Amino acid sequence: MTVKEILKMGDPRLLRVALPVERFDTHELKLLLKDMTATMLQAQGVGLAAPQIGVNLQVVMFGTGEPNPRYPKEAPVAKTVLINPVITPLSEDTEEGWEGCLSVPGLRGKVPRWKSIRYSGFDEKGTPIEKEAEGFHARMVQHECDHLWGILYPMRIKDFTQFGFTEVLFPGLSDSSDD
Ligand code: NI
Repeated sequence: MTVKEILKMGDPRLLRVALPVERFDTHELKLLLKDMTATMLQAQGVGLAAPQIGVNLQVVMFGTGEPNPRYPKEAPVAKTVLINPVITPLSEDTEEGWEGCLSVPGLRGKVPRWKSIRYSGFDEKGTPIEKEAEGFHARMVQHECDHLWGILYPMRIKDFTQFGFTEVLFPGLSDSSDD
């Protein structure tokens, strides 16, 4: 289990379309997930995608099972590993919300996302996952899966007056966690 370097925006490896995982329940996949967990925890992140540590595979993890101080009214999202994901919006409705990213340190931006989605994929053993999510949970899934298509959240921002340094936008914010 190794804490890996998190690639930062500007690194072309963050702009690739990741490849699907073809074999589940392998030593390599277990090792990748251990490295991702260690890296995310060390960075106090609430989500991480494999491309952020330079691994070009469709693997994301999100959720801590703990309430998130940034979204105190939202139910905690269970710790989830999602592989080869597919996201389907359940309605045309979008909503804006603040996001941060470990690959874009120190910044926050208001990003429009689908309000409610269905997502499917597999866990590390290859067991199918199918869930519906809304609000913060849906946002997190969309943010992490975007990393698999080479999209970083600033590329989704519509209103750049709502993009800036965390310490300026939210003075006194003790929580510095990022997706
Ligand atoms: Ni991110």
